[in-house]
Amino acid sequence: VRIVIVHSTASAARAWHEAIAARLPEAVVAIWPQELDEPADYAIGWNPPAEFFERETRLKAFFSAGAGVEQIVGHASAPRSLPIIRLEDAGMARQMAEYCAYEVIGWCTSRRLYDEQQRLARWHEPRPRRPAEWPVGVFGLGFMGRQVATTLRALGYRVHAYARSPKPLDGMACYADHGGAGDFTAFLRATRVLIVLAPLTSETRDRFDETVLRQLQPGAYVINAARGGLIVDEALLALLESGHLSGATLDVFRTEPLPPDHPFWRHPKIRVTPHIAALTLAPEGADQVAEKIGRLEAGLPVTGVVERERGY
Ligand code: GLV
Repeated sequence: VRIVIVHSTASAARAWHEAIAARLPEAVVAIWPQELDEPADYAIGWNPPAEFFERETRLKAFFSAGAGVEQIVGHASAPRSLPIIRLEDAGMARQMAEYCAYEVIGWCTSRRLYDEQQRLARWHEPRPRRPAEWPVGVFGLGFMGRQVATTLRALGYRVHAYARSPKPLDGMACYADHGGAGDFTAFLRATRVLIVLAPLTSETRDRFDETVLRQLQPGAYVINAARGGLIVDEALLALLESGHLSGATLDVFRTEPLPPDHPFWRHPKIRVTPHIAALTLAPEGADQVAEKIGRLEAGLPVTGVVERERGY
């Protein structure tokens, strides 16, 4: 088989190239725009340029080199019939659980306050935040949402979740769309720490506007490790200002890198990280992609195929 790696980051492209070549020694692997002798059978990539699909017209599938697929699903030049396959966990769920647990624990145990107190040589014990007073709501129950939910529950937090369709969640409440707004409202009202972990689709874009965020419990804390487009920036800022929200941790933004003059950078109630909550690990990713290419070549079905209608 012929495989082309097309990645907006050169070092990531090289890591994928090495990992795939090691797992599929018979395959011919190239890094775009390097030419193969014939059009590629499979592409593995992130943010392909428009010309990519003009040249690669014989692809049997496009593997996303990440969990999110909105950039390839919404790609203006990608043929509608091209199967898109996303990474499933591939070492990202553990990282995401670590990231979210760190932020929730940090918030509930007042770590930032103690950092500040140490700076001022100040000895003061605030009233502890009790996990029971900070029920966690996980929005999105894929590989990452599920691992975040079970990890936080194991740490003693009250956790519930929201998914597009109802899913069993190991004894935790799972609210679901059912095509109506009722369960979403119930989810919000039960939530004081919101963790956003759903893909960016036409259904989730701008989902967390001011009306929605206002339905979270008073003093709620918001963590977004999915995509910036799910939360309306101005709504978040307005509700932090009014005190309805008490803080936020943001890993993802509408524009990345986050522009230096964006108010999130210097906001005293916002923690910013540079889209690092769950990094793609090329070796784990390549294990999965290589196995799926083997199955596809043998005419067998694979999991993780994107349903274009739902957008992930
Ligand atoms: C990262 O955001 C990814 O989609 O893998």
